[in-house]
Amino acid sequence: MATNLEIFEASKKLIPGGVNSPVRSFRSVGGTPYIVERGKGSYVYDVEGKRYIDYVQSYGAVILGHADSRVTRAICEAAENGTTYGAPTEGELRLAEIITDRVQGAEMVRLTSSGTEATMTALRIARGFTGRDKVVKFDGCYHGHSDSLLAAAGSGVANLGLADSVGVPASAVQSTLVLPYNVVPELDETVAAVFVEPVAANMGLVPPVEGFLEGLRVECDRVGAILIFDEVITGFRIGFSGADGVFGVRADLYTYGKVIGGGLPIGAVAGRTDVMSVLAPVGPVYQAGTLSGNPIATAAGTTVLSLLDEASYMMLEGRAKYLTDGLYKVISEADLPVQVQRFGPLLSVFFSDEPVVDHVSARKSVANGIFRHFFHAMLARGVALPPGPYEAYFPGLAHSWDDIDRTIDIASAAAKEASERHAGSL
Ligand SMILES: Cc1ncc(COP(=O)(O)O)c(C=O)c1O
Repeated sequence: MATNLEIFEASKKLIPGGVNSPVRSFRSVGGTPYIVERGKGSYVYDVEGKRYIDYVQSYGAVILGHADSRVTRAICEAAENGTTYGAPTEGELRLAEIITDRVQGAEMVRLTSSGTEATMTALRIARGFTGRDKVVKFDGCYHGHSDSLLAAAGSGVANLGLADSVGVPASAVQSTLVLPYNVVPELDETVAAVFVEPVAANMGLVPPVEGFLEGLRVECDRVGAILIFDEVITGFRIGFSGADGVFGVRADLYTYGKVIGGGLPIGAVAGRTDVMSVLAPVGPVYQAGTLSGNPIATAAGTTVLSLLDEASYMMLEGRAKYLTDGLYKVISEADLPVQVQRFGPLLSVFFSDEPVVDHVSARKSVANGIFRHFFHAMLARGVALPPGPYEAYFPGLAHSWDDIDRTIDIASAAAKEASERHAGSL
């Protein structure tokens, strides 16, 4: 039987860093990643047979937990009929119907194969619709890895200690304006689009302050810019209609991914009919994809969305709140500075005395290095947190009360160990 270390070392020879997405490499926390053999519900199992209560949950792609039997059945049934056709299917219509039924501001939908493709497409639509180039994004918000949106991007980029990526030409970000999150900027009439994570979840979990999203709506209306809610994480996770329903602020465009694919590769742009109608073949803005609207992904996504109702979101939030309160209590008892920030079912731990409201305060809070000690102390005891201080945690519908109680008990011991290790490293 190969060990985690053996597989990781062999992977490093063939795959840069041994991983296909940088955060998985444990670069910011050190050590060897667990190599997943399988997952079931709230758990993942590594190749050495060790079980972890998993709060990564594919960074939010599996809201019902791993290998939910209803989703697996839908996937198998769809695959029996073929895996991709390059022609339209009814499944695409059904998924578009669910999205447009639930999200008031979504009148039309274009499916893509990832969240990155969705945000790239949204930006092109906004530029095509307005005839302007400039895009405003907020420091610490991540909108996928396309060139013009990869400026001050938080998440995986921040975990690596990079401000931006090498390989992105200055010309690609020349029209990208990066501004502080939670401050409504004054726009002018050169701005095509304002991109925002309505709840920031890529610099740790940072909720919007009151008036932020409303203020963005007012400013975009004033100058004729397109407001884009990037709901790749928040969509159908923070509520039945995502941020659109929770905040009651209408965007012009929305981007989705993760939950809407039930764990398969997917993305979507949705929004106002007049804005979406610039897309080819109706309009002049080109966008396409061999696997877009993939029948297996739409089958998994529609199954998941059909299984979610208002009660599911109350359950998700109840568990996240209980976990948040428990983590706060046991980590503060270990004499560590702590903020457990939560919005609905999303949360993250900052080892800080001050609340985190933007990327500057997020960066300040992670500088003490405590997260790394806490992460490893949790992992050694069987709880897998996302391996970076800028990631959100994803307790899902598969996490039982017992899982959460055990997580809090483990966090109590882990926080004491982290406290001692931190003191020893000073
Ligand atoms: C808010 C947000 N937008 C876009 C993306 C990119 O999605 P994907 O990784 O599917 O390309 C992510 C990924 O985590 C995200 O969190």
